[in-house]
Amino acid sequence: MYPDLQKELSTFERRTPKSSEAHKKNLKRIPLGVASNYRAYDPWPIFVKDAGGGKFRDLDGNEYIDHNLCFGALMAGHCHPAVMKAVEKRLSIGTMFGMPHDMEWELAEEICNRFPVEMCRFGNSGTEATMHAIRLARAATGRDKIVKFEGAYHGLHDSALVSVKPHAPEFGDVHNPTAVPGGLGVPKSAVANVLIATFNDLDTVERRFKENPGEVAAIILEPILMNVGLCLPQRGFLEGLREICNRNGALLIFDEVKTGAKLGWGGASEYFGVSPDMICLAKSIGGGLPLAAFGAHKSVMDLISQHKVFHGGTYNTNPVSMAAGLATFRQVLTRENYAHVDKLSKKLADGYGKIIAKVGLQAYIAHAGANGALMLYPKEILNYRDWTTIDVDLWRHYWFGMVNRGVMAQPYWWDEQWTISVQHTGADIEKHLAAFDDIAESLARAQQERGAGVPAEVAH
Ligand SMILES: Cc1ncc(COP(=O)(O)O)c(C=O)c1O
Repeated sequence: MYPDLQKELSTFERRTPKSSEAHKKNLKRIPLGVASNYRAYDPWPIFVKDAGGGKFRDLDGNEYIDHNLCFGALMAGHCHPAVMKAVEKRLSIGTMFGMPHDMEWELAEEICNRFPVEMCRFGNSGTEATMHAIRLARAATGRDKIVKFEGAYHGLHDSALVSVKPHAPEFGDVHNPTAVPGGLGVPKSAVANVLIATFNDLDTVERRFKENPGEVAAIILEPILMNVGLCLPQRGFLEGLREICNRNGALLIFDEVKTGAKLGWGGASEYFGVSPDMICLAKSIGGGLPLAAFGAHKSVMDLISQHKVFHGGTYNTNPVSMAAGLATFRQVLTRENYAHVDKLSKKLADGYGKIIAKVGLQAYIAHAGANGALMLYPKEILNYRDWTTIDVDLWRHYWFGMVNRGVMAQPYWWDEQWTISVQHTGADIEKHLAAFDDIAESLARAQQERGAGVPAEVAH
């Protein structure tokens, strides 16, 4: 480990002793000491005490500007007043019924007005949304196989846990990527039904359809690949996927768990002008409570109405989450708030750009809507394989350096990105940039000494 990184890690350890203690206790009873593998990192994860607006405090009382925002699920920011008011009102009149109520129609209307779908059903997590969307696509086409992109994350069900972070040499040739199970316990039969293509490479998608004629139910993708930092679709890529689906009678599923609320008012379809057949929503649509939805044309959703595809869930449309969702759509995800967030995101991206140029760091900023990331690469990455060439220690130097200066620039892990909330301010962005300015020179120096783009092992 090089000295500047070691220095930042020592500072982190000095600043967060209570997190270390809490983590030790957790480790005894909870694998990795965390409730989701994504929350685990060395030397220990920061434990949270409380949060409000665009900030949170850890157990040691350190305050951070929060651009992690629960892995992008909080474009509303913490405890948004409109969401809190709606939730508090519901809490005393029943939190769960397992029976229909009048907010369901209202929220379905909000979703169908914004996104190119005619009907939707609700759930509680992105995992549920993509799982049900894939099942519906299989039912609608009578086919079992799906095309998924290498490096993409669509949640935790068997069809999604394939080639999420595959390693060499198992992952094969970039023009013909191999389907690799994302851990033990994923059945071989599930892997066999997932065909892997390379993001931004239509030839790999065509190849999968040619090799499996009449067998592909759907292509599922994040319109912006956000499991590798932030990787934008190149011109014509989404249109090409639309055309391939049309030609082959397959459905196009946009996993908009991240992009749906954060890219703009109408999500990726509005932003890119390409309409999918199905969408999956979660994270920021709930304003801080668990809420998800999947939707499609009536002809597809009718498979549920006709009792041909089964969908259920005890917690679906619980009134607390639904009240939060309604308040979020109506008072948080407004055109004015998107303008505010876009302005801050641009200010942040421009500021990073200037500092990167000033210190001569080999890096660029990728950003879209409320999301962005410092990409520590000499040129734009186009797919998962490009992403794996990152110098992980340099990225850790950046992340811990920012955290030590009171800015959680993004969740831990170099496959993530920042989220800007509607409650962040211009002053937050300036503080963020001042922190980056403070460490940028040491990053550039370390990069020069180590050589740009030292390839690293993929850690998770
Ligand atoms: C694009 C995408 N799809 C699906 C999921 C799964 O969502 P959840 O964690 O709510 O199950 C995630 C979570 O990060 C995601 O980023």
